[in-house]
Amino acid sequence: MTYVAGFTSTGSKRPEALFGSGASGMPRRMIRSSGCRVWDEAGREYLDYIMALGAVALGYAHPAVVRAAVAAVEQGGIGPLPPVLEEEVAEVLCRRISALERVRFLKTGAEAVAAAVRLARVATGREAVLGCGYHGWLDWCQGADAAGVPAGIRALYGEIPFNDPARTRERIRAAGDRLAAVVMEPVILRPPDPQWLAVVREETARIGALLIVDEIKTVCRLGLGGGCERYGIKPDLVVLGKAIANGFPLAAVGGRAEVMELVTRTWISSTLATESVALAAAKATLAVVDEAGVPAHITATGGRLLEGFRTLAARHAGVVVGVAGIPEMCHLEYRDEPLSGRVAAACAERGLLLKRGAYNFVSLAHDPATVDRSLAILDDALSAVSRSA
Ligand SMILES: Cc1ncc(COP(=O)(O)O)c(C=O)c1O
Repeated sequence: MTYVAGFTSTGSKRPEALFGSGASGMPRRMIRSSGCRVWDEAGREYLDYIMALGAVALGYAHPAVVRAAVAAVEQGGIGPLPPVLEEEVAEVLCRRISALERVRFLKTGAEAVAAAVRLARVATGREAVLGCGYHGWLDWCQGADAAGVPAGIRALYGEIPFNDPARTRERIRAAGDRLAAVVMEPVILRPPDPQWLAVVREETARIGALLIVDEIKTVCRLGLGGGCERYGIKPDLVVLGKAIANGFPLAAVGGRAEVMELVTRTWISSTLATESVALAAAKATLAVVDEAGVPAHITATGGRLLEGFRTLAARHAGVVVGVAGIPEMCHLEYRDEPLSGRVAAACAERGLLLKRGAYNFVSLAHDPATVDRSLAILDDALSAVSRSA
């Protein structure tokens, strides 16, 4: 019996998403997380690479973040006026991320991308939007098969193909002066080609559309400033989420001052957007990201994981066909969908939680020895699945 319709409110945490539809006896709900470890409702411990779907870059319950959040709760957490912390966290983000001159906080990634799209529509007086990647569940970015989304809304949204400069140019030119914005993830299974990035930037500028970079998964990982920092992208607006508050609910939209000031011409507002617990968590998180060199740690440790994935892909070619992603976010590619579920289940039986598709994430709490131990578990799980395949 579950009282939550569809088992959970977070789609990618459904048992069938994690382990495939055939798996039984898998962990379904958890009670605790710490560092890179998770305990399920039966008290069983797991090493984790799902990291709250990338929402945690320092490790679960990082002491500095917990202390900051507890202190904010004790200070009341919320009230009738915006907290000083809102301006402080905004100042840190604007100082550290070159594309940001002004920011605005919200609670979820989907909300923040929707806010960026709203601002682009106000700025340009246009309605069409082209996207590239996943941008959340809200109406503006759903495809033709999304039930419950009005056809008129769906008609305003299209997609551009990642790393395909010719077709991207074609699609942007076809949208022409109806296009308000291109919204893109900087990494989709592989890094962006410079030539594709140049086309996206040049073509949007040429027709007067805004370029919005969705850094929800990449912020605090590829660099504090995410993919824009690493790949030299010059966006008009940036959307941040997930790891900026190490798992506390906070997202942000920011960018050029004259675009951001347009918030006064529309309505972007949320009662809990400026509660101070998540803002305090974000302030502490951003300090640790800098002080502990978190992106460098994630790149090195994730690189070890990715190398290990490559070795295991070669060793277990009957089950695994390749590896996708970059050190900071990667996964194995399986011969077929049922096999991917069987590997995830075999890993979970051995105390390892691994995502079977995009993406696995390491954090500051993952060290080389943990990665090596995890790869040994994965090796054993792949051998077991190979034997029974
Ligand atoms: C790139 C990207 N954009 C937007 C979202 C939506 O964020 P949220 O689930 O916090 O609404 C996600 C979530 O996975 C994401 O990865």
